[in-house]
Amino acid sequence: MPKRVYTRHDTAHNLWEVTAEHFPLDLPPDELVRNLGLFETPMTTARTLWFSHLYEKAAQTTGAIIEFGVYLGRDLVLWENLRSIHEPGYRSSYRRIVGFDTFQGHVGSNKADGDFDFVKDGSFQIPDGWVDSFLSYVRARHDVTKEPGLVLVGGDVRSSFTEWLRDNPDTLISLAYLDLDLYLPTLHVLQELKRRVRTGTVVAFDEAGSLGYPGESQALNEVFPNEPVHRFPLGNWSYIQVGE
Ligand SMILES: C[S@@+](CC[C@H](N)C(=O)[O-])C[C@H]1O[C@@H](n2cnc3c(N)ncnc32)[C@H](O)[C@@H]1O
Repeated sequence: MPKRVYTRHDTAHNLWEVTAEHFPLDLPPDELVRNLGLFETPMTTARTLWFSHLYEKAAQTTGAIIEFGVYLGRDLVLWENLRSIHEPGYRSSYRRIVGFDTFQGHVGSNKADGDFDFVKDGSFQIPDGWVDSFLSYVRARHDVTKEPGLVLVGGDVRSSFTEWLRDNPDTLISLAYLDLDLYLPTLHVLQELKRRVRTGTVVAFDEAGSLGYPGESQALNEVFPNEPVHRFPLGNWSYIQVGE
């Protein structure tokens, strides 16, 4: 995988480089998974709180949680954990969790995305064989938790989401999480969502307002020009709640 380069102003908050440099490689796997907090940074902890904040809102309506931009699947596992925490008594087959990604990195970058390294086609490549390994990993978790499977949908969202909506006309959507980074794919997803969402649906953004990812905000402005954009007070993330 290509090495990521972080900007100086992010470093103090994210501490990625310190963690990578001092990573205790000799930790056995069982200790590693029990001690993930060792590797948390203020930003990653805040992100978990952000997802929990969104989940509380989503729990008030019926429907699926759909994430656009899965990468290695970190967020999908977090959505599953939050489902177990927030809605232990709810039949989780009613709260499907679906993830869309090319699983081949960014596709569809455009001049509206600016020139940050992370917004180029091909960024966020995943290791060969990752999707199969990830699916067998979550299947093993589901054997223990008795949760229904996650749904992963591969391909460029500009066709895959449209086709998926056509094939799943019964889908209700409680929460859509957009983490595609790019203008054109985000624009397409928002246009499709606008036809399917209803009052109360939460549409959340990983990068809205970020100068490094202008495409996401531009797409939001174009498709939902009048919805208030709420900021999560503990971090740089935002959401709209349709028709509020
Ligand atoms: C920032 S990463 C997502 C991170 C993820 N939410 C997580 O849990 O770590 C952005 C993802 O968007 C995906 N992506 C970019 N353009 C896409 C497109 N046109 N269609 C589908 N996925 C796309 C990339 O493959 C990449 O995995």
